[in-house]
Amino acid sequence: MTTHTTKNQTAATDGGGDVRLAGITKTYGSFTAVHPLDLTVPQGSFFALLGASGCGKTTTLRMIAGLEEPSGGTVHLGDQDVTALPPYKRPVNTVFQSYALFPHLDIYENVAFGLRRRGIKSVKKQVGEMLDLVQLGEQARKKPHQLSGGQQQRVAVARALINHPKVLLLDEPLGALDLKLRRQMQLELKRIQTEVGITFVHVTHDQEEAMTMADQVAVMNAGRVEQLGAPADLYENPRTTFVANFLGTSNLIEAEVDTRSGDDLVVKAAGDKLVLPGARCSAPAKAGDKILVGVRPEKISLTHADDAGSVPEGRNRITGRIGNTSFIGVSTQYVVDCAACPEFEVYAQNIDRDARLAPGAEVVLHWNPAHTFGLDADQSPLAGTMGDAGVTEGEGA
Ligand SMILES: Nc1ncnc2c1ncn2[C@@H]1O[C@H](COP(=O)(O)OP(=O)(O)OP(=O)(O)O)[C@@H](O)[C@H]1O
Ligand SMILES: [Mg+2]
Repeated sequence: MTTHTTKNQTAATDGGGDVRLAGITKTYGSFTAVHPLDLTVPQGSFFALLGASGCGKTTTLRMIAGLEEPSGGTVHLGDQDVTALPPYKRPVNTVFQSYALFPHLDIYENVAFGLRRRGIKSVKKQVGEMLDLVQLGEQARKKPHQLSGGQQQRVAVARALINHPKVLLLDEPLGALDLKLRRQMQLELKRIQTEVGITFVHVTHDQEEAMTMADQVAVMNAGRVEQLGAPADLYENPRTTFVANFLGTSNLIEAEVDTRSGDDLVVKAAGDKLVLPGARCSAPAKAGDKILVGVRPEKISLTHADDAGSVPEGRNRITGRIGNTSFIGVSTQYVVDCAACPEFEVYAQNIDRDARLAPGAEVVLHWNPAHTFGLDADQSPLAGTMGDAGVTEGEGA
């Protein structure tokens, strides 16, 4: 493999490489597509902009690329203020969903294109390295229509990377691929990014994709970044209902703060007492305050009501009746009707299945209080779910 050279060459041309957006905003008439946004993308990171259709991801990316003029704010790439620079003078390249390879050129010439345009004559070594990087050395003499969708996408990535951008921008690059290929390409793109070591800014509406690939994810909603963090941190510590629901699934229970007990909060929800760590509650929590108590479906155990006595002490517990079950192989998903929450979701790993846990069964749901988080009750518990008018999944293009 010759990809070490690739990495070194990139590093040699590097004068910073991070993206800094300060107060960047875009309005169309009276409509604000991107509200003033401050964002720093660490150098060499894989950064994802995640959000539902229409939330402003592409607009943000296009402002970084220079394809869209901001209505306010500045864009820095490394130490350079590029706000006034045309796209071709910015050290970035963009890969779009429709990767538009040149159909009459073979793969080799598609990848060589950027070099030839700059008048570089001896392209062989660099093109060879790029084709190795995306593992298409064998396909060099094929035409784009002779490749699979994933292979074509890799050509598009190689074609962009050969220009040694400081930052590679990717706008739903996997949107046209079927699920299985998409998964493969997610890992492949991540490998390529690690190998070349440059900053990738990846736009997607697919939360699994963002979590699989990115070091940092910015969750966007209606033109604003709601929360930014590492995938596991966002998943475990959502600070808004939108993030709690858009990134995976959360059960959100309306509750009232009862007391504080050491570092814990004790709350009441439909007659049940629940405990959560005070540090995991992002809302004000004096006695009498309303909060939303959240817990992820995979943290919960289900016990048939006949065995309620076997539930260990010290766990949060509520009771309910199973409404629905779906067996999906690795797990069974239950929807349980509880007084505190009408459609409580529980994912149980398939180890030993209790045949009594069928629709109609009375059950105890219990979980470790440490796995509970608290959110401000002054927001819709449905934000970010399929029931939320703002979220239309599958409209990524
Ligand atoms: N040229 C334009 N004129 C008017 N409104 C626009 C224009 N371009 C985008 N918008 C609006 O700005 C908002 C953000 O658009 P953007 O393309 O950034 O969304 P997105 O997050 O990339 O969505 P998707 O996932 O569907 O690609 C949308 O409501 C869109 O209708
Ligand atoms: Mg878009």
